[in-house]
Amino acid sequence: MKTWKIAIVGCGDIAEHTYLPNLDRNQRVEVVACCDLKPERVRLFMEKFGIPRGYPNIDELLAQCEFDIVMDLASIPAHYELNKKALEAGKHLYSQKPVALNEEQAADLIETARRNGVKFSASPIHMLRPDIRQARQLLADGAIGRLLFIRSMVAHGGPEYFQYRANDPSWFYEPGAGALYDLGVHALHMVTGIAGPAKTVFSRAATAQPVRTVRSGAFDGKEIQAGKLFDNYLISLDFGNGVLGDIVTGFCVKGNAAPELEIYGELGSIVFPGGGAPLKVYLDDPEKKIRGWMKPDPQARPAEEFFQASCIGDLVRAIEQEEPVGLPPEQARHVIEIMCRVEESARDGETKELKTAF
Ligand SMILES: NC(=O)c1ccc[n+]([C@@H]2O[C@H](COP(=O)([O-])OP(=O)(O)OC[C@H]3O[C@@H](n4cnc5c(N)ncnc54)[C@H](O)[C@@H]3O)[C@@H](O)[C@H]2O)c1
Repeated sequence: MKTWKIAIVGCGDIAEHTYLPNLDRNQRVEVVACCDLKPERVRLFMEKFGIPRGYPNIDELLAQCEFDIVMDLASIPAHYELNKKALEAGKHLYSQKPVALNEEQAADLIETARRNGVKFSASPIHMLRPDIRQARQLLADGAIGRLLFIRSMVAHGGPEYFQYRANDPSWFYEPGAGALYDLGVHALHMVTGIAGPAKTVFSRAATAQPVRTVRSGAFDGKEIQAGKLFDNYLISLDFGNGVLGDIVTGFCVKGNAAPELEIYGELGSIVFPGGGAPLKVYLDDPEKKIRGWMKPDPQARPAEEFFQASCIGDLVRAIEQEEPVGLPPEQARHVIEIMCRVEESARDGETKELKTAF
């Protein structure tokens, strides 16, 4: 069986701590090259992970190295251009989120992948999570009846606060990045993954902490001027047919005990407590004379092992079996459209119609 050759683009925090230590759990892939604009990061990755080849930019990587899959783990503003180059070069692609900065760019990437006959898998990974798949199955089986309302809170204190970082986190506060693109995107993928595409969006947003201080890592103590972007968001979605969604996100929450996702239906509720805890399910089914909190059947949970780097196993499956990827870029395009309209709605106070679907 073929071993799929991967090139890493962007040797940053998530590549170092989340993906590289876990990629070899998928026996069928091999990281043959890495690339970053910072030579010291390329050197570190080659030494730490035994990667044989390193490049200072994607152009040299694509011109000089033989491989199958690009993993784009670079900073957000770089994604679109890197992804476009990878797809144009005929490489299969997994991209960190968001894959582009607006829906036109996302549509262009989808078309480029189609034209070049390659698979394109778009982060975040929620649609591969066993608990999300279990909740989708419960809904599809009618366990909580028709969906009425969905709510997600995904927030933390900012990348400079909650993580030890080797790279300077200031870029998260520059145009082309920000709390919505880095974090709100998770909530939007979960909510649309359960409820489907939204029809309209309204948002309130604020810049609540315009000056921030890095709290750990190599840039500990550095002051960041964070006043250019919003960092605190309330987002309302209308899915039609009476189904509403509510999202709280931003970089203004130091600690948080709210459920990451709540799904409310005519016959009950599904609550994701967060932190890997099992789903909580409430049922109100007069016919079955059931009313109260249940324990979902653990047998019903998809059995296969799941971890962040599972996205690559999914991509390899899609390539080999000529099937769709589990993280479709069409959903990413819809979420990117929502995020663009969120920014506009927060500025002009108007509800925005959404045109894309998936
Ligand atoms: N850190 C996390 O916990 C985390 C979690 C989920 C998702 N992400 C996502 O992962 C991506 C990277 O985040 P990070 O935290 O690793 O950031 P980071 O700042 O630690 O690393 C980004 C790296 O990309 C490199 N880079 C930038 N432009 C490049 C280009 N044109 N070509 C090659 N390399 C380039 C930078 O030099 C840097 O080393 C972002 O999309 C972020 O939203 C991060």
